[in-house]
Amino acid sequence: RIVYVNGKFLPEEDAKISVFDRGFLFADAVYEVSSVLNGKLIDNEGHMWRLKRSLDELEMQHPASAEEIETIQKTLIEKNGIEEGLVYLQVTRGAADRDFTYPANTKPSLVMFTQKKNLLESPQAKVGITVITSPDIRWQRRDIKTVSLLAASMAKMQAKAAGADDAWLVEDGFVTEGSSSNAYIVTQDGTVVTRHLGNEILAGITRKAALRLAEEEGIKIEERSFTVDEALAAAEAFVTSATTFVTPVVSIDGQKIGDGTPGPIAQKLRGIYMEEAL
Ligand code: PDD
Repeated sequence: RIVYVNGKFLPEEDAKISVFDRGFLFADAVYEVSSVLNGKLIDNEGHMWRLKRSLDELEMQHPASAEEIETIQKTLIEKNGIEEGLVYLQVTRGAADRDFTYPANTKPSLVMFTQKKNLLESPQAKVGITVITSPDIRWQRRDIKTVSLLAASMAKMQAKAAGADDAWLVEDGFVTEGSSSNAYIVTQDGTVVTRHLGNEILAGITRKAALRLAEEEGIKIEERSFTVDEALAAAEAFVTSATTFVTPVVSIDGQKIGDGTPGPIAQKLRGIYMEEAL
């Protein structure tokens, strides 16, 4: 695999980052994941917009313009022959002697790689996923897409140990989001409910597209917090993310949602999202 590191396209084994890199020492780094279908980037403009926002929130220098980054993404897709999969990109504040304060004048690092992955025919899209609920122990700026992902990893491991696919994170009784996705329920009267934006969740790029498509379909939407009990009583549930698009959730904490199969609104939204993407 050919990867990109600070201006160079290299075989992955030749790519190097300093042990003093602040991404490594402090998780002082932000990232984006864009999916690739038929060799083309999906929703990439949104990902570039969010990258800029994450960098600005952390007063981190921009390593390159959005246009330059997109050119590198496309070069990697081509060099690695990616028809279906993803492009990962990470910007770190750069290398400096270990110190909690941000160093002045370090050069940010830009790292990118591709991953081949079956996204369209994923079995989970057809049968849906099962989730458990787990306390949201992450920090309070989840709107910034940092690489500080250990709490999300722990929640996912907890889900796997319980025989489930993923975890929905819960704070003060309300669902915030999935470990790496946004979370939705559909009420018995057909309203799509997903948490409002704020510091507590990531503003998903797929979320934005899914809500726009739902609105175009005339589906009622409420952007507000919902409780675990409300989710358990819902007609349907689903998640969105760049790599799973719209994926139905068929059970929460071992309790079936609806009849325990992918719901019609989730399937409809996945269908129209895929139609627009392809
Ligand atoms: N995760 N919430 C969290 C905590 C996420 O990590 C993600 C994405 C999302 C969905 O955002 P988007 O629709 O822009 O992908 C919501 C990516 C896919 C990841 O970490 O691999």
